[in-house]
Amino acid sequence: MKTRITELFGIQHPIIQGGMHHVGYAELAAAVSNAGGLGLITGLTQKTPELLAREIARCRAMTDRPFGVNLTFLPSVNPPDYPGYVKAIVEGGVKIVETAGNNPQQWLPALKDAGVKVIHKCTSVRHALKAEAIGCDAISVDGFECGGHPGEDDIPNFILLPRAAEELKIPFVASGGMADGRSLVAALALGAEGINMGTRFIATREAPVHDNVKQAIVAASELDTRLIMRPLRNTERVLTNAATERVLHKESALGAAVTFADIAPEVAGVYPRIMQQGEMEAGVWSCGMVAGLIRDVPSVQQLIDSIMSQAEALIRERLAGMLR
Ligand SMILES: Cc1cc2nc3c(=O)[nH]c(=O)nc-3n(C[C@H](O)[C@H](O)[C@H](O)COP(=O)(O)O)c2cc1C
Repeated sequence: MKTRITELFGIQHPIIQGGMHHVGYAELAAAVSNAGGLGLITGLTQKTPELLAREIARCRAMTDRPFGVNLTFLPSVNPPDYPGYVKAIVEGGVKIVETAGNNPQQWLPALKDAGVKVIHKCTSVRHALKAEAIGCDAISVDGFECGGHPGEDDIPNFILLPRAAEELKIPFVASGGMADGRSLVAALALGAEGINMGTRFIATREAPVHDNVKQAIVAASELDTRLIMRPLRNTERVLTNAATERVLHKESALGAAVTFADIAPEVAGVYPRIMQQGEMEAGVWSCGMVAGLIRDVPSVQQLIDSIMSQAEALIRERLAGMLR
């Protein structure tokens, strides 16, 4: 399949693995890139720019295909060493960056001067247009379904993608709720040039997370996610568990007075315990509604091959067969 996204990034299939905290290590990024998609190392999971440089070198040893780095810009009292991370990316020879969170404008000159292509992930048409205006090369349009931070507009992809198609000139991929060949064909029909997946890639053999996490996704239905931190305007879609219930209880009990400190025990610094130790009740963790479509833990190669063959069969047989 050839789309503006496969051309832009020099990849075989229009499938991207979105940045994921404590999931997006070199093992997963390399597996996705080796299978013909675009794998991304999650920058901030590496505690320092030096560690990111090492992770980039590890990934390069595992694949000779293009891979990228996710840089998430979070509101923070003590911001991470972003200039250092950008330097590690540029000096590591990485040519693709996925930005997310805040506007990446400040970091674009350094990235662009080094020939890095930037795909900005955002949850609204207005932010996508802003990213296009400041010089981003592509957009990852993250619908309300997505695992992680869906923003505050609550527009699902069936509306958001065609709206993006109406407005954007640069190519975009559909993110949020994508699982299989049906998702890919639907995304293409709505104007996207590929898909970005998070949750689906966690339930793969190569994802370097505890098996409990993969099994929790397989066991979950589409009804098993909740939105937390809405009162803080930092909404996150997470899997339902006891920690999620505690957060929601605090939010409803404290109302508008709730602060991050109130929910920090469930939210702050819990990812390593969940993702690497498999302590599923240690806190909250991002998960998409798409869990309802995930029933197995294939290898990344099997997953990507099945997406592409299902998509091809849908286009050639089901859709073409409906025309007369
Ligand atoms: C466990 C988990 C951690 C994530 N961490 C990040 C992150 O650190 N930065 C980021 O930009 N997106 C993050 N995301 C969002 C994904 O990159 C992707 O946009 C999202 O999962 C797409 O929705 P889906 O889960 O329905 O495929 C995370 C998602 C999950 C499930």
